[in-house]
Amino acid sequence: MQCLLWLLLSLWILCLFWTRSEGQLIRIPMQYQASFMASRRQHRAGRTSLLAKYNVVGGPEITSRDNLGATETLDNRLNLEYAGPISIGSPGQPFNMLFDTGSANLWVPSADCSSKNLACQHHHRYNSSASSSYVPDGRRFAIAYGTGSLSGRLAQDTVAIGQLVVRNQTFGMAMHEPGSTFVDTNFAGIVGLGFRAIAEQRIKPLFENMCDQHLVDECIFSFYLKRNGSERMGGELLFGGVDKSKFSGTLTYVPLTHAGYWQFPMDGIELGGRIISQNRQAIADTGTSLLAAPPREYLIINSLLGGLPTSNNEYLLNCAEINKLPEIVFIIGGQRFPLQPRDYVMSAANDDGSVICLSAFTLMEAEFWILGDVFIGRYYTAFDVGHRRIGFAPAA
Ligand SMILES: *[C@@H]1O[C@H](CO)[C@@H](O)[C@H](O)[C@H]1NC(C)=O
Ligand SMILES: *[C@@H]1O[C@H](CO)[C@@H](O)[C@H](O)[C@H]1NC(C)=O
Ligand SMILES: *[C@@H]1O[C@H](CO)[C@@H](O)[C@H](O)[C@H]1NC(C)=O
Repeated sequence: MQCLLWLLLSLWILCLFWTRSEGQLIRIPMQYQASFMASRRQHRAGRTSLLAKYNVVGGPEITSRDNLGATETLDNRLNLEYAGPISIGSPGQPFNMLFDTGSANLWVPSADCSSKNLACQHHHRYNSSASSSYVPDGRRFAIAYGTGSLSGRLAQDTVAIGQLVVRNQTFGMAMHEPGSTFVDTNFAGIVGLGFRAIAEQRIKPLFENMCDQHLVDECIFSFYLKRNGSERMGGELLFGGVDKSKFSGTLTYVPLTHAGYWQFPMDGIELGGRIISQNRQAIADTGTSLLAAPPREYLIINSLLGGLPTSNNEYLLNCAEINKLPEIVFIIGGQRFPLQPRDYVMSAANDDGSVICLSAFTLMEAEFWILGDVFIGRYYTAFDVGHRRIGFAPAA
């Protein structure tokens, strides 16, 4: 099984190298687990990991009210994610990675991790002894997740993404991966696409090295995520520009509030002709599937949708009535970005196999919004590093 996976990934990376680039645009195909119906617990897991990521205390349901749910939650896989290939070292060792704009470090499992660490054992591991371009760093690193700390040592090596070869990239070799959060993920590690200001130990992120080493004409990357994609055709991450064939109209750009997270000002949100949120900060995060709202908006939106609250801060919606729900309009840079019910209603499987409908508007005990794949899937997103701005346009 392991051998087969190796072979498939190697072939895939080989194919990537054969695909000719146009100018300096590098296309990374994204995998999407289309046939995968998330269980209710997995939805909760997504939320729990989101809260941990932004260091937000999740409220009572995480500490006591639903201990069972919370524990199981953390033990479940988080593979509602899009992943794509990179290779590290010389010769290149292939890895399938989560490209996450909500964090800024790169890490992969280490060949030296304990045989008892399942997450590490289940994925490709980086073997520094097998790479002629490896440079030891010596420093330890740790990243906090909901289930505990991911830890190991830092290394420096060459990282290839498509035809782009980034030299001297510092990254984490994970010796310990917490709980079973990462055991069954379709990715081995994470490529953080946030800015250096939020990186552990202020390590220079991959795209910053890419730009400094003049590997791309324009210091910009863009995401096209298919909401109904497949494992082979889940969308595309493009380094070096935007692909006009993947969106309609023009991109609406707004300047970033800070170059840390991909954080920008959002004018407001409209539901049924009513403005229900005004002048909030929002963060574009490809590493989550959800739309996380501040408490007030979370309550208003879900009540207006006629949702039935559960003890887990979820809102159940009537699957038979989805088509009657209103569109919800995000107003950004003076432009309207509507989401339809088919965009913001998520289906999930109960333990007995029955399917329920959940609102994608989840609770963030903070006064900002997180816009995950529900939004980025509907709106092509340009992450303009050079101009410190973010742009959105309707995805084709
Ligand atoms: C790492 O690579 C070296 C050199 O190819 C090899 O001798 C060693 O067994 C590998 N280690 C692991 C854990 O795979
Ligand atoms: C990488 O590091 C080596 C050794 O410090 C240096 O000679 C080389 O110029 C660096 N390459 C790039 C592209 O920064
Ligand atoms: C998603 O794709 C599947 C298979 O290609 C198709 O049967 C289904 O109708 C699609 N759903 C939507 C909402 O487009």
